[in-house]
Amino acid sequence: MAQHSLIRPEGAASDWTIPQNWAAYTAEDHATWDILFERQAALLPGRVTPEFIAGLDVLRLSKPGIPDFEELSERLMKATGWQVVAVPGLVPDDIFFDHLANRRFVSGNFIRRRDQLDYLQEPDVFHDVFGHVPLLAHPVFADYMQAYGEGGQRAAQAGVIEKLARLYWYTVEFGLVRSGDELKLYGAGIVSSYTESLFALDDPSPNRIGFDLRRLMRTKYRIDDFQQNYFVIDSFEDLLDQTLNTDFGPLYAELEGQADIEIETILPGDHVFTRGTQAYARAKAA
Ligand code: PHE
Ligand code: FE
Repeated sequence: MAQHSLIRPEGAASDWTIPQNWAAYTAEDHATWDILFERQAALLPGRVTPEFIAGLDVLRLSKPGIPDFEELSERLMKATGWQVVAVPGLVPDDIFFDHLANRRFVSGNFIRRRDQLDYLQEPDVFHDVFGHVPLLAHPVFADYMQAYGEGGQRAAQAGVIEKLARLYWYTVEFGLVRSGDELKLYGAGIVSSYTESLFALDDPSPNRIGFDLRRLMRTKYRIDDFQQNYFVIDSFEDLLDQTLNTDFGPLYAELEGQADIEIETILPGDHVFTRGTQAYARAKAA
């Protein structure tokens, strides 16, 4: 993920990459990965979109524990031409977009502590690799991520990345996809989280509404807790089609004068899969 105004740490290259230094992980680091991996691998079948399960194979590497990015990139490169590169943590937007546009996914190289198994604020190697990499092995999603990077570069030029960031958030990080009359998970922020993998599908609190690009780009989101709203796409093909074939230039101009939509609002035109009770968010706020 990206963020504005960060200072490049000493030792990072001008593109913010660092050596992963796989040999420096401790036995405890690897065991933390294994615990998280086992837990999600047991939970996700039937909940996650089948393309994710198929993509998990790229993570089954010869060494146990945290994937070695060199080996991982070799496999991913064969599948879709993507690589995984290590960074110290969040990187600036322009650096992030440039990597994506060139089919390089940036991953934090550190792993969370044992007391952070269920929640941490900064994306670590488990979120970045387990959450994001399986779908990068899917040709359509792989193209979507590159197109997003290119779109980000254009949006940055125009100074309008806030709206585009919402698209990343509500698809790549917290997206749901329709499968017949069921919903499935695909967003990395959900699938790398045990608790949100349950909440996002089963809890009556959040709204779940159909993907609508204009509507989505006006909708606020929260970064500090479970989402109050999830957008549901029809398929990866449809997501790529709608975003790639829309020139966002005029869209940004059109959205400029329009007010943001509050996170829990349901509009008359929405395709509502779930009208959430918002009980969870309300209890938290009280
Ligand atoms: N089509 C968008 C633009 O014109 C870019 C984009 C493509 C954004 C795919 C997200 C996903 O800027
Ligand atoms: Fe992420």
